[in-house]
Amino acid sequence: MPRFDVTIAGELNLDLILYGLPEQLTPERELLADRMMLTLGSSSAIVAHNLSNLGARVGFISKIGCDPLGQIAVERLKQAHVDVSRLWQDENTGTGLSVILQRAGWRNILTYLGTIAELKLVDLDLDYLADSRHFHYSSFYLQRGLQSDVPELFRRLKELGVSISLDTNDDPDDCWQGGLMNSLKFVDVFLPNEREAQKIGGGNDLETAVSRLAEIVPVVVVKMGQRGAMARCGKGCITSAAITLEPVDAVGAGDSFNAGFLSQYVRGADLETCLAYGNLAGALSTTRPGGTEAFRDSLQREAFLKTYANARGKKHG
Ligand SMILES: Nc1ncnc2c1ncn2[C@@H]1O[C@H](COP(=O)(O)OP(=O)(O)OP(=O)(O)O)[C@@H](O)[C@H]1O
Ligand SMILES: [Mg+2]
Repeated sequence: MPRFDVTIAGELNLDLILYGLPEQLTPERELLADRMMLTLGSSSAIVAHNLSNLGARVGFISKIGCDPLGQIAVERLKQAHVDVSRLWQDENTGTGLSVILQRAGWRNILTYLGTIAELKLVDLDLDYLADSRHFHYSSFYLQRGLQSDVPELFRRLKELGVSISLDTNDDPDDCWQGGLMNSLKFVDVFLPNEREAQKIGGGNDLETAVSRLAEIVPVVVVKMGQRGAMARCGKGCITSAAITLEPVDAVGAGDSFNAGFLSQYVRGADLETCLAYGNLAGALSTTRPGGTEAFRDSLQREAFLKTYANARGKKHG
């Protein structure tokens, strides 16, 4: 039996989220937010943190700076029982940071890459990463130190018998190149949102884009915000509705969806169950600020999962 259910090589940083800002950010004026939250952010770390809180055994390789922000981020992963024994500290680069300006229904995300771009293939212990059922990779276009080596990393992990999932997240350059297609050849589950699926798959509509992606990847899962998610497996397609609630914000909802989906995938659950758990975890994430706060409080987390899992069970039963 492998040591981990899921291993991840990825970025680790905090999100600083500001709420209630003025519509216009007028230069040279003192502008006030009415609430803030400093919380564990970054796609890879959110997936690791939330997966572990959903009961999976998670191993995480990352690089942070020698600064307090990096320390707070690591502490959050330790509290969630994620294994961080292979963490690197860079003396020359600061830990990355995202500042999120949350508006009504949309947001600006401003990211300082720092150590996010410094993790390299030589930093990765492949035996550690392969001592797992599954490997997940996020933030393809932010992890610039690894980007050109991702196809090689995936190829070697596949050779060692690990299944692989990928969520590119956004490309700040909006080019969607850089070896992505070569990487997708090794991916078992691809987890874009609608915009990303359309950009990567191409064509005039989502259906065409997803069909093209499904010719390369066995399972393509598209996250669709408050409309839930769909999965394409070969020519088959299933959809799963989102849970109806009033969100605090959707920061990290996609990463939480990945955690919910993968928590079932590594248990060998069927696609319908994986999708339903993705939606459940995505919705849970929106009930508190940022992508991880809702998963830290075990009582609230378990109550939410029980309530909505039961409701779904009744609907299907
Ligand atoms: N308003 C909402 N109500 C209920 N569920 C939601 C809502 N917004 C998001 N979700 C859940 O979270 C999932 C992921 O959301 P979304 O489509 O925004 O992903 P994303 O764009 O990849 O997000 P991220 O910013 O984390 O990368 C959805 O598929 C859904 O299950
Ligand atoms: Mg996303």
